[in-house]
Amino acid sequence: MNGIRPLSDPARNQPLVRITGVSKAFGGVHALEDVNLDLWPGEVVGVLGHNGAGKSTLMKILAGAYERDTGVIEVDDRPVDFRKPADAQACGIETIHQSLALADNLDAVSNLFLGREIGWRLGPFRVMDGPQMHDLAKRVISQLNPNFTALTVPCRDLSGGQRQTIAIARAVQFQARILIMDEPTAALGPQETEMVGELIQELKQKGLGIFLISHDLHDVFELSDRIVVMKNGRIVGGARVEDVTQDEVLGMIVAGNCPAVATAGTGVLQAGESQ
Ligand SMILES: Nc1ncnc2c1ncn2[C@@H]1O[C@H](COP(=O)(O)OP(=O)(O)OP(=O)(O)O)[C@@H](O)[C@H]1O
Ligand SMILES: [Mg+2]
Repeated sequence: MNGIRPLSDPARNQPLVRITGVSKAFGGVHALEDVNLDLWPGEVVGVLGHNGAGKSTLMKILAGAYERDTGVIEVDDRPVDFRKPADAQACGIETIHQSLALADNLDAVSNLFLGREIGWRLGPFRVMDGPQMHDLAKRVISQLNPNFTALTVPCRDLSGGQRQTIAIARAVQFQARILIMDEPTAALGPQETEMVGELIQELKQKGLGIFLISHDLHDVFELSDRIVVMKNGRIVGGARVEDVTQDEVLGMIVAGNCPAVATAGTGVLQAGESQ
């Protein structure tokens, strides 16, 4: 395991993920209705929408935390049926939650391998390979952020940006190819937000695909290649960032106004036009 493995070849013209006709209801609440969306290697797709629009539900289905009612999800052109998060992780799908889910009392190395430590069994005991974990952690973190050297500092003493680095390094270490980032910049200052932007560029260059959930229109425009807007469980609009203004996107979020729908990374579709 060396952290970063070769990724889908964009030249093969195949998305990392293709979501087709996915719906999900909780009792009488239609959280998702007929959602179509794809994600390509090296692409960041910003997922926008008001509270309750369905963003988290869609991402939780992709991450194996919820099961869909209908529809198809394909990873590397193969249909997948995730029953639990470990199924999605085995396909290279990792989620970085807003809370980052780091253990505050442990350092970067321990957090990187938390629950998936490297070691071996000795009778009833499990022996951890500390030096190997340290070396791997150092390699993965320095690839992402050469300035990060606080490998042995408890996470509670790290800045928000440093914590974000560890959370991202953890996903990369476990060979994420598809990253779901939930509000990665919500708790960060401008400098740290910039650093997360640099991390995202790094991941894009490695060919990862990223779904970026955020309420911050400015950040989404800065960080994404394409945005999609959800409302009442549906995707009501989308476009490449260079083709829309923030005001147009705000219109989509608020009113569901829909100048263009780009649920697929291959082009911009007009509203109502079928794929
Ligand atoms: N586990 C659940 N049980 C019942 N209803 C749920 C559940 N999860 C989500 N919902 C409902 O599904 C709809 C979509 O919720 P979801 O959490 O996906 O929205 P969201 O776009 O992520 O919102 P937010 O921006 O507030 O995070 C909402 O009406 C919500 O109340
Ligand atoms: Mg949510």
